[in-house]
Order: sequence, then C-alpha cells, then structure tokens
Amino acid sequence: MLVSDDINRIRHLVTVVAEADGEQPLNEDAMLALSGDGAGVSHYLFEQDGELAGYAQGNTKHGTAQLLVHPGHRRHGLGSRLLGDVAGLAVWAFGDLPAAQGFAAAHDLTERRRLLVMERPLDPPSGGAFDGVRPFDYATDADQLLALNAAAFDWHPEQRHFSRADLDARMAEPWFDPAGLLVTADADGLTGFHWTKRHPDGRGEVYILATHPRAQGTGLGRTLLAAGLEHLAASGSTSVHLYVEASNSRAVELYERAGFAVVHRDVLYGPTLTRSSDDR
Ligand SMILES: CC(C)(COP(=O)(O)OP(=O)(O)OC[C@H]1O[C@@H](n2cnc3c(N)ncnc32)[C@H](O)[C@@H]1OP(=O)(O)O)[C@@H](O)C(=O)NCCC(=O)NCCS
Repeated sequence: MLVSDDINRIRHLVTVVAEADGEQPLNEDAMLALSGDGAGVSHYLFEQDGELAGYAQGNTKHGTAQLLVHPGHRRHGLGSRLLGDVAGLAVWAFGDLPAAQGFAAAHDLTERRRLLVMERPLDPPSGGAFDGVRPFDYATDADQLLALNAAAFDWHPEQRHFSRADLDARMAEPWFDPAGLLVTADADGLTGFHWTKRHPDGRGEVYILATHPRAQGTGLGRTLLAAGLEHLAASGSTSVHLYVEASNSRAVELYERAGFAVVHRDVLYGPTLTRSSDDR
C-alpha cells in the first residue's frame, strides 16, 4: 500500500503530465487504486533529481498497466524501465498520443484493444415518463445488479470483475446520485440498469448500461439509455459521453443510432502475439 506522501506525489505527477499532454495518463480505476487496498495492484515509483520522474501501476486482475513519465524526463529510457517493471502486462495509451505510439512500436507492442469515447449534445428534458424504469434500491437490488453485470459483461476483461467493493467504492464517491442509477425488472428480477454519472463540470456520462442476456434484443437497452439521458438532462447536463469497446459493435450501433459520435480513442498495447503450432 502507498503512504499518503507518495499518493500526493503521484497525483501531482498525473496533473503535470495531463497539463503537458492534454490527456489524463491514469484512468479512474487507477486513481482509486492509489488509495485502495492494493489487491492485485503494484506501484513503481521512479525518482530522479529529487522529484518523482515516473510512475507505473500494474494490475494483475486486469492484466494491464498504466505508466507515465514527467515531460522533463522523457526520452531518457525511464518509460522503458517502468515497462520492464510491469513486464507481462499490456499497457494503456489514453488518447493514443504519438509518443505512446512511438513507444509501443519501439517495444514491439501491438494493439490489443481499442476503447472509444462517444459523445453527443443533450436536449433539454422532454418530461417524458419511462414505463417500468425505477431508481436502484441497494437493499433489494445490489446482489442482482452485480449478477446482471457479470452476465451481461462475461466477455469483458474488466467490467465482468465489477464487485461489491467496486460498487460500494463508487457509491461513496461525491458524484454518486442514487436517482441516476436506473433499473428495470421482471418477475425473475432485474433485467437491466443504466448508471449515469454527472461530472463536477456538469458533463453527463453513460457510466454503465447493461441488459440481462434473457432480455436482450427487446429494445430495453434503448429505453434505459433514453431514461438515463432524460435524467442527466433534467439534472442540467448539456452533453453526455460514454466509453465503449470498438469491438462491441451492437453497443456502438445502439449509441450511433442514439446520436453519439466517436470523439476519442484509448488503445491497449501488448506484446505481439506469435502463432503457436496449435493455431495453424
Ligand atoms: C510514452 C512515455 C511513457 C514514454 O516515456 P519515455 O521515458 O520518454 O520513454 P523512453 O525514453 O524509454 O523511450 C523509449 C523509446 O520509445 C520511443 N519513443 C518514446 N517517446 C517517443 C515519442 N515522443 N515519439 C516517438 N517515439 C518515442 C523511442 O523509440 C524511444 O527510444 P529513443 O528515445 O532512443 O528514440 C511518455 O511519453 C509518457 O509518459 N506519455 C504519457 C503517458 C502514456 O502515453 N503512457 C502510455 C505508454 S504506452
């Protein structure tokens, strides 16, 4: 576990790098992991000239790492050393900036996943009602929401691991709004949920949208999406964005039909996969 002084120094480095690159080098999950319990997470701090010059975080649960180097210390091999610290893990390049592309190419890393950010403006609230959509109730819905999430995202490398601890940590965040977590149910339990997030600057986010496999293909995703967007608009948001796997074509199509367009890309780079004799 990190001591609070190190956490502060890492947060400062993140701010410096974000200002220089116009891109956040650590995602929300990695920022939360700085002060988390540390399960599956390792931290590598690289100091030079009395300051924190680089940081890498490895996450064996996700099989991924995130690393960043202070703009004043780049092109001196620090990034490569940190990459050695998280060897075996694939590395996120948020924004897929030219430096990360060059760095990945230099280490023979190739694209493993591509995460899209999609966005659209939000119309003023219509005042419309959404039949069967109600707010989440922790006491009765928490277990079902986690089971539904695991079933809907059984193919997803990170989201399928979303646990009660993850749920509780996010519900304890200042942005959490119980009215912005909407669910639907049938006689057998929850059929879907749309967790919206309102950022401090007012922007809205489709944080998690999931429908149970037994209810997929019935228009439920579209209804839950619309209900969440209505909630965000009613809360004062004028734009909304979301993250989606480029390979999740059904979801990308749902969002394109709802007026979202791709505005940003994050790429996960990993060691080049070589074909084994079994693949031939
Ligand atoms: C990407 C990053 C980690 C590289 O850190 P670094 O300490 O400069 O990397 P290194 O000095 O070890 O670079 C190793 C090689 O990567 C390549 N490389 C690094 N930066 C590059 C750039 N801006 N343009 C092109 N190639 C680059 C070069 O081949 C370099 O070798 P060289 O300097 O001898 O030409 C750093 O720019 C950074 O923190 N960026 C923001 C966070 C980020 O994108 N992280 C994801 C990395 S996949």
